[in-house]
Amino acid sequence: MERERRSRYLQAMGIVEWQRRDRVAEPAAQSVQPAHAGSSGDAAPSRQPVPAAGDISRLEWDALQARVLSCTACDLHKSRTQAVFGVGSRDADWMIVGEAPGAEEDRRGEPFVGRAGQLLDSMLHAIGLDRQQVYIANVLKCRPPNNRDPRPEEVEQCEPYLQRQVALVQPRLILAVGRIAAQNLLKTNAPLSRLRGRRHSYGEAGTPLVVTYHPAYLLRSPLEKRKAWQDLKLAREVAGR
Ligand code: URA
Repeated sequence: MERERRSRYLQAMGIVEWQRRDRVAEPAAQSVQPAHAGSSGDAAPSRQPVPAAGDISRLEWDALQARVLSCTACDLHKSRTQAVFGVGSRDADWMIVGEAPGAEEDRRGEPFVGRAGQLLDSMLHAIGLDRQQVYIANVLKCRPPNNRDPRPEEVEQCEPYLQRQVALVQPRLILAVGRIAAQNLLKTNAPLSRLRGRRHSYGEAGTPLVVTYHPAYLLRSPLEKRKAWQDLKLAREVAGR
């Protein structure tokens, strides 16, 4: 079973496995799930009144989403098309946290819907999950111009939103994808190579957290996909504990 799952993962991620010629079958068509708004319908803006600043940690889902979508706390609101809140199951066991929306996400209002998102979907499939089953969010809710790295003051303004999302979802595991997400969630400057391969904890609740490569990096460096598979297996083990 583990072998079969490994094969599916490697195939989904475009890693060629060496096989004896006489055993090589026709490759199965690779299916990538179309992006969707998730079971909770997170894509639609809420009509709730926006509460005063300072009580983000008490907001419920609709009010939190409304607050994010109308946020002007940092300058990123000036260049965004729209804020990207988060998507997926609000009682998910797994929460996936990325860096910030890219161009496609900014346009569509949903995290991880570009090429990197398609690879993320494949990675999730390989461990038996799909987008509806997890909750996906970013450290920053608005796209930095030209996809530059988030600035500390932007992260600081946005942090209460993600903290509240984590508190509401109460996941069994946070998978931090990429250096920026990992460093900001764990409040460290350590390189990704040192953060991978072990269980961390996030926030006061001590939510288990595992770090892996960003799918955009894996698209550029496909040889690292094998290490990402190790990370996913660790994440699965930690989530199952
Ligand atoms: N990269 C991220 O980190 N998040 C997205 O939503 C898209 C690309």
